[in-house]
Amino acid sequence: MLLSVRDLRTRFELDEGELWPVNGVSFSVGTGETLGLVGESGSGKSMVALSILDLVPAPGRIVSGEVDLGGEDLLSMSGAAKRRVRGGEIGIVFQDPSASLNPVYRIGDQIADVARLHRGLGRVEARREAVHLLGDLGIQQPEKRARAYPFELSGGMRQRAQIAIAIAGRPRLLIADEPTTALDATVQAEICDLLKHVQGEFGMSILLISHDLALVADVADRIMVMYAGRIVEVGHWTAITQEPRHPYTKGLIGAIPHLGAGSGSPLEAIAGTVPDLTDLPDGCPFHPRCPEAGEDCRSAVPRLQDVGDRLCACYRVKHTEAVT
Ligand SMILES: Nc1ncnc2c1ncn2[C@@H]1O[C@H](COP(=O)(O)OP(=O)(O)OP(=O)(O)O)[C@@H](O)[C@H]1O
Ligand SMILES: [Mg+2]
Repeated sequence: MLLSVRDLRTRFELDEGELWPVNGVSFSVGTGETLGLVGESGSGKSMVALSILDLVPAPGRIVSGEVDLGGEDLLSMSGAAKRRVRGGEIGIVFQDPSASLNPVYRIGDQIADVARLHRGLGRVEARREAVHLLGDLGIQQPEKRARAYPFELSGGMRQRAQIAIAIAGRPRLLIADEPTTALDATVQAEICDLLKHVQGEFGMSILLISHDLALVADVADRIMVMYAGRIVEVGHWTAITQEPRHPYTKGLIGAIPHLGAGSGSPLEAIAGTVPDLTDLPDGCPFHPRCPEAGEDCRSAVPRLQDVGDRLCACYRVKHTEAVT
């Protein structure tokens, strides 16, 4: 395993009360693996990414847990060591490229800087690498684009540039949080193909975060489903998309026309809204929306358990031998 996250807990103390966007989250990402993280808006996906990077904004705070990258605990490192990891061993791509691109600095220079800082390349070599990466990421006339400022590029090109910056340090792990959400459908598909390409070429691991399960299913080896700060189901992408077992995952899948089994009224399964994290119900946080909820679901939070071919946190889901 390249990345192991163990019992991560992140808390916000607000006037309305405290909330836990990351509430006992454990998972790992294998070398060269793409792990997808999905869930509705507000379920805590971005907070998982920010917690891994120790970049949780105040008043949020990581309360406990371990984030092990290749044998080193990131959370207990010095500030300087953490900065070396971010952008170096871990590349980061966010939804909005303008948040990570410097508007007054040429694209090529921004990529070259990362290659110099994290790989120790010389000026000329780093420059050549920047042009090479842009070309590799499907940007036409990379020599010319390297001299452009971010505002001179289209949204799709800016996102490619952001990916170039993220991989210029040859990270072992790429964290991509909603990398295509701001883009139109055609460009979304291109960026997804690009992530696959990048992974094939550099062999890095990817944590791909999106509210769009169909998109994640297209790229990820395994998929992890999050609800109200907790992981509720994790498994191989085919198990999750073809035979979802957690009622929440079933609802998510049912809402996707070409993935949903089409039985009954799938959207009905996931009526209601994501709960207010400062005011969670007792028991399973999904029970008020769950068509399968029983009395037991109202008393204690179900633990994430091995149920055969996956992990699932639901009292209705029992262990079964994997279907081969
Ligand atoms: N700065 C903040 N102050 C207070 N609460 C916050 C803050 N940022 C996030 N939260 C809380 O953490 C929860 C999880 O937020 P997070 O951004 O991780 O969700 P998400 O799953 O990434 O959603 P989205 O799909 O919209 O990006 C939110 O529901 C919100 O209640
Ligand atoms: Mg988010």
